Amino acid sequence: MKQATLHQLKVFEVVARHGSFTRAAEELFLTQPTVSIQVKQLTKAVGSPLFEQVGKRLYLTDAGRELMVTCREIFDRLAQFEMTLAEMKGLKQGRLRLSVITTTKYFVPRLLGPFCQRYPGIDIALQVTNHERILSRMSENLDDLYILSQIPDHLDVCCHPFLENPLVVLAPVNHPLAQQKNIPLSRLAGEPFIMREAGSGTRSSVQQLFERHEVSVKVRLELGSNEAIKQAIAGGLGISVLSRHTLGLDGVSSELTILDVEGFPISRHWYIAYPAGKQLSVVARTFFDYLLEEAKRIAGETPASSN
Ligand code: PGA
Repeated sequence: MKQATLHQLKVFEVVARHGSFTRAAEELFLTQPTVSIQVKQLTKAVGSPLFEQVGKRLYLTDAGRELMVTCREIFDRLAQFEMTLAEMKGLKQGRLRLSVITTTKYFVPRLLGPFCQRYPGIDIALQVTNHERILSRMSENLDDLYILSQIPDHLDVCCHPFLENPLVVLAPVNHPLAQQKNIPLSRLAGEPFIMREAGSGTRSSVQQLFERHEVSVKVRLELGSNEAIKQAIAGGLGISVLSRHTLGLDGVSSELTILDVEGFPISRHWYIAYPAGKQLSVVARTFFDYLLEEAKRIAGETPASSN
């Protein structure tokens, strides 16, 4: 196969596909004699005939058929290489805009570390905000990817389940209910309650549960931050319902405890999402795949949710 060129292989593939020099010449925008010369030179390089003419038809010889299979493999590999090259160029530098729900702030920044080390030329803009503001950013197409806990019903989005995000009842460690099991939901009605702000997904899940069971809690304080609520609980201002992830990666706190209340944990998930029809950039697609890989790893390490 000395001196065979890629161009000759390309011409051969087209001739073999059409079974005709004339049609190959048309597809390649070449003259028929040029096509014939290329095939002749390739035949010489191979050292065996590649076609045989029977009547008006052109057939591949055994060597021709083998060469055809080899050509397809070569062209497939080249196409893959071109794609990889484009991705490498795309990933050398770029920007990734993320909007994530408040509760993911305990570990999304940690996941970003290894990603940024792998792709040091990528700049990241991370917004941590509540459900309502994520939806409004999404409807304005402000970011590449979103992580949120409730699939929006009025927006057309592609959503991929990511990790569990259970909501639990948090109280100070020395709370009188701390040691009790199976506390009836109605028992919370007597407790001063700290609620997230309007627009929070946590708040709407909690309200739905209470409404379904016709329990009305005494909201003593409304706060717009999970951290502030944790401090308020520890300070004895009341109890609240928050994502278990607000207790940090190990889920343990020396000041707070999870109460064993009927109907809890409220089972929820985080989703990775983006508006349907959005063309993800190479960077965004790579981060999306990376998140799913990490989710598998984390889910494999974490025991199933429990109180
Ligand atoms: P929120 O959402 O900040 O809107 O309450 C938190 C969550 O859904 O995990």
